[in-house]
Amino acid sequence: MELYRICFRSKIEWKNVSPELQKELDYSLTRIRRMNRRKGVTGALLMGNTHVLHYFEGKPGPVLDTLYCVMQDARVGEMEAIFHEPAPARLFPNSLMFFRDLTTLEVAQLHPALQFVVDRPSRISVDESMNALCCFSEEMRESRLTNGMMLG
Ligand SMILES: Cc1cc2nc3c(=O)[nH]c(=O)nc-3n(C[C@H](O)[C@H](O)[C@H](O)COP(=O)(O)O)c2cc1C
Repeated sequence: MELYRICFRSKIEWKNVSPELQKELDYSLTRIRRMNRRKGVTGALLMGNTHVLHYFEGKPGPVLDTLYCVMQDARVGEMEAIFHEPAPARLFPNSLMFFRDLTTLEVAQLHPALQFVVDRPSRISVDESMNALCCFSEEMRESRLTNGMMLG
């Protein structure tokens, strides 16, 4: 199966987001995961104070379709492409849409620099975005552990 992946950053349009953020997140994530299940798309959303880092993987058509869905959503504005390329394997095979709010204390303690990278006004590099995603990708953690054991 031909796999494709895409990563970009978008600016949050807070004026179009409900003041009841948690409710809106729960509702939207349920809808997003339902749509992604239908399309065979998996991925991750990392949310900061001002920006969201988006990552999708799946067949090229559904991945592009998902990008168009996000582009039409008024809750996000200005977008910055980071990478789009054929993928050797899925990073989030078990997540229809993995989600983390990077502004929470829990995440800040585990990954102190992450919110700064996602919210930074200047561009994010491919390596920075990959490192951010790999903090949460079970597949990457497992392969790093295996490599570590083989080296150790
Ligand atoms: C931060 C963010 C992430 C999104 N991620 C996805 C996604 O992974 N898949 C998808 O199909 N739509 C995604 N969308 C798009 C919308 O959720 C969806 O198109 C929107 O809810 C409109 O659907 P509706 O008008 O049918 O409710 C995303 C939107 C935002 C703001």
